[in-house]
Amino acid sequence: MADSIHWFDTIDSTNTRLLADQAGLPDRTVYAALFQTAGRGQKGNRWESRPGENLTFSFLLKPDGIPAREQFILSQVVALGLIDFLRGEGVAASIKWPNDIYVGDRKICGTLIEPTLSGGRVSAAVAGIGLNLNQRDFDPSLPNPTSLGLVTGRRYDVKETLPRVLAPIFARCDKLGSPYARNGYDAEYLACLYRRGEWREFEEMPATDVPTEQRSGRRIQARILGIDPEARLLLEHRDGTLHPYGSKEIKYII
Ligand code: BTN
Repeated sequence: MADSIHWFDTIDSTNTRLLADQAGLPDRTVYAALFQTAGRGQKGNRWESRPGENLTFSFLLKPDGIPAREQFILSQVVALGLIDFLRGEGVAASIKWPNDIYVGDRKICGTLIEPTLSGGRVSAAVAGIGLNLNQRDFDPSLPNPTSLGLVTGRRYDVKETLPRVLAPIFARCDKLGSPYARNGYDAEYLACLYRRGEWREFEEMPATDVPTEQRSGRRIQARILGIDPEARLLLEHRDGTLHPYGSKEIKYII
């Protein structure tokens, strides 16, 4: 596996570069960087990471004919592989739908999966992962960041750690076409879901193109029941009604 890891001292974004190069590269090619000058996060945000302190990498997946409508399974394998890695480090983590990995109420890792679709199928996907390893202090504008080092008190060798993160993710990718994958990954994902079943406050966001951070919505009390077949978050309101939400339609109050 080590042969397919390409390390860059500095790059704009491992996702951007791997997307541009993907046609000529084999399945599971990995681009990793000590520093990204234009790291990208969800919803058009930037991903900031202090040089040499954390893992910022992307890998290429060329899956065998996953229907486009089932592409959420790619988020599941990546998230569950990250949970496996953290568990191996002695850290209990959870998946904050749709793309974050949390330890307690703090974000340790974000993922950005960018699929290429053709003929109604996923022909390739670039999975980008920003996993905080050693950074101890963060920009105050970030809501609730943490790192593996802050959680365990240890320091991590960035280059040595990457293959150990990739191994459980790739082990789960190996099973993508297997009978286990569909129901098994759903069940495991549900079991790892952040705040599942807890009555909590959320903010319902009005449907508009304005970024979530700049909008305010209606506070509701609800609990997470699961994920529906369209990969939306399924909430039960206090009056017993069920409501599915897309990622731009709901905000956790943390
Ligand atoms: C998020 O939580 O908003 C997603 C963050 C994803 C960041 C990673 S870092 C490696 C890869 N390259 C990028 O430009 N983004 C992803």
